[in-house]
Amino acid sequence: MTDEPTAGEWLVPPPRTAAGWLLLRRPEPGDSSALYDAVVASVDHLRPWMSWAEGYTPQMAEAFVDRNAAKPGDPPVAEVSYLVWDRDDHLLGVCGLHARIGPGALEIGYWVDVRRTGRGVATLAAAALTELAFSISGVRAVEIHHDEANRASRAVPARLGYELVATVDDAPGAPAEVGAELQWRMTRSAWPFSDGARLLEAARTSSP
Ligand SMILES: CC(C)(COP(=O)(O)OP(=O)(O)OC[C@H]1O[C@@H](n2cnc3c(N)ncnc32)[C@H](O)[C@@H]1OP(=O)(O)O)[C@@H](O)C(=O)NCCC(=O)NCCS
Repeated sequence: MTDEPTAGEWLVPPPRTAAGWLLLRRPEPGDSSALYDAVVASVDHLRPWMSWAEGYTPQMAEAFVDRNAAKPGDPPVAEVSYLVWDRDDHLLGVCGLHARIGPGALEIGYWVDVRRTGRGVATLAAAALTELAFSISGVRAVEIHHDEANRASRAVPARLGYELVATVDDAPGAPAEVGAELQWRMTRSAWPFSDGARLLEAARTSSP
C-alpha cells in the first residue's frame, strides 16, 4: 500500500492563495464575463500555443468557471485552474495544476492576458502555484512543460529555478509548436532554496 497520489482524481485544491500583488483564486459564479473578455482580447496571442482560444464563446467561459469552481464537500479532482487577479480586481490570466504526469507529480499550466504580459505575472503565479502544490500531501515534484518554440513560456520555469530534465517528441498541438516538448522539474526538497521561493518571499515582503 502507498499513500502516494497517482494520476486521476486525487487533488483537493485550496480555494485561494495570495502572493504579494497577485491573488490566485478558484473561479466563482460571475467570473465568466471577465474570463471571456480576457480570452477574446488575447486571442491572437493565445492561438499560436493554445488551440482552444480560437472561436472562444461565452458558453465556454461559463463551462470553465463551473468546472473549476469549488464544490460542496471538496470532492477530489484531476485538475484545477485558478484565476489570477491583481489588487484592483483585474483578471490577469489563468494558471492550473494537472495530475497527468504520474505518481506524486503535478504539472503547471498558465496563460496571461496580452494586455498584462511582460510584468512577471506568469512567473509569480507559477511560483505561488508551486508552493500550493507542495502544500498538498504526497506531491514530490512539480513540472512545467512547453514547446521548444515558446520562448516566453520557457523563461518562467528558468527564472524560478526549475531544472530542465528532458526534451521529448510531442505532436504539435497548436499552430506555433514545433513538436519538441521541454520538461522542467522542481522537487519538494529543492523548492525552499529555489529562486521561485525567494521571489515569492520578496513579493510578499514588498506588498504583504
Ligand atoms: C508565456 C506567458 C504565460 C508569459 O506570461 P508573462 O506574464 O508575460 O510572463 P513573465 O512576465 O512572468 O515572464 C516572461 C518572460 O519571458 C520573456 N519573454 C517574453 N516574450 C519573449 C520572447 N518572445 N522570447 C524570449 N523571451 C520572451 C520576458 O522577457 C520575461 O522574461 P524576463 O523578465 O527575464 O525578461 C504569456 O506570454 C502567454 O500567455 N503566452 C501565451 C500562452 C502560452 O504560451 N502559455 C504557456 C503554454 S506552455
